[in-house]
Amino acid sequence: MKVLAILYDGGEAARQESRLLGTTENGLGIGPWLESLGHEFVVSSSKEGANSDFQKHIVDAEVLITTPFHPGYLTRDLVEKAKNLRLCITAGVGSDHIDLNAAVDHRIQVLEVSGSNVVSVAEHVVMSILLLVRNFVPAHEMIERGDWQVSDIARNAFDLEGKVVGTIGAGRIGYRVLQRLLPFNCKELIYYDYAPLPEAASKAVNTRKVDDLKEFVSQCDVVTVNCPLHEGTRGLINAELLKSFKKGAWLVNTARGAICDKDAVAAAVKSGQLNGYAGDVWNVQPAPKDHIWRTVKNPLNGGNGMVPHYSGTTLDAQARYANGTKSILEHYFNNTEQEAQNIIIGLGKYETKAYGQR
Ligand code: NAI
Repeated sequence: MKVLAILYDGGEAARQESRLLGTTENGLGIGPWLESLGHEFVVSSSKEGANSDFQKHIVDAEVLITTPFHPGYLTRDLVEKAKNLRLCITAGVGSDHIDLNAAVDHRIQVLEVSGSNVVSVAEHVVMSILLLVRNFVPAHEMIERGDWQVSDIARNAFDLEGKVVGTIGAGRIGYRVLQRLLPFNCKELIYYDYAPLPEAASKAVNTRKVDDLKEFVSQCDVVTVNCPLHEGTRGLINAELLKSFKKGAWLVNTARGAICDKDAVAAAVKSGQLNGYAGDVWNVQPAPKDHIWRTVKNPLNGGNGMVPHYSGTTLDAQARYANGTKSILEHYFNNTEQEAQNIIIGLGKYETKAYGQR
């Protein structure tokens, strides 16, 4: 059968570092194995437009492997052209680049390697919160420039202790963020999620659920976004909601770029309504060179902690999602039961409750 993988090019780095498994060069480390089983394995980064490898090979591929870091956008149109497609595997977590409703309609299964990079992201979230609150980036830039003016940095540097931090989404990543924040003695850790945490889990991190989103953000000094992108979260953080944020709050989004309205967030940072925005996810990836999130600054010339999409693709994470991808393929080839936690779309239906209430 044909297995098509859309991955990012690793270039020189991937040739030097074989643990960069999620690259076209290293093909998740599964190429020789697939070929030994007699399958055709096509790996490419070319994903945009009718002449891309993605669109050329999707018409007869049976399995599609994609990664959120360099998303091959499987639209309904492409699903309709993909006559042999039976299984989509997300090497990582987050399958919003697949039209999931179209997958349901066409009985294409969608699986993720659930949990494979949730610690990687949670660590990145904590780092991003700290670098915003402590005004780290402009301080480092000052040092590189050869300058030294402590007051210019200190005038907008704070401690995390005593602040209210809230997560939108308290699933695997959101909960791990709360766990990691516990020793910082925040004033409160709160969450917004339609799925309540089990009582013991909630107690363990001393968190409180807030049911109304506006009320939730109005209580937070720091908001971190940790829910999937779906119909109910696209554009969730928009100009209207930003008005309910505390003036000067910090926002961290490592979930998906399109959960935040690009221009509204940029305007809020520029005006100081948000003191900063950080994260690694963009509404389109790769982000265009002139994307406003690359350069937007708060009125004190800081407040930007944006990086390319890499929080969930540390070398540790790559080992886990490469292994997980192989294991999903093994179950598929051998017709054995997939691990339930990995199934986003089963045959003709959503198996997860995390992609919206339906
Ligand atoms: P999860 O499925 O364990 O948790 C997601 C939580 O979000 C669930 O508790 C769900 O009920 C909640 N949720 C869904 N819709 C919501 C809404 N409208 N409002 C509030 N909460 C809502 O997923 P996990 O593993 O925590 O990952 C979350 C997301 O993080 C992924 O879907 C992906 O988009 C993103 N991610 C980003 C990575 C990166 O490298 N930046 C890597 C891994 C995941």
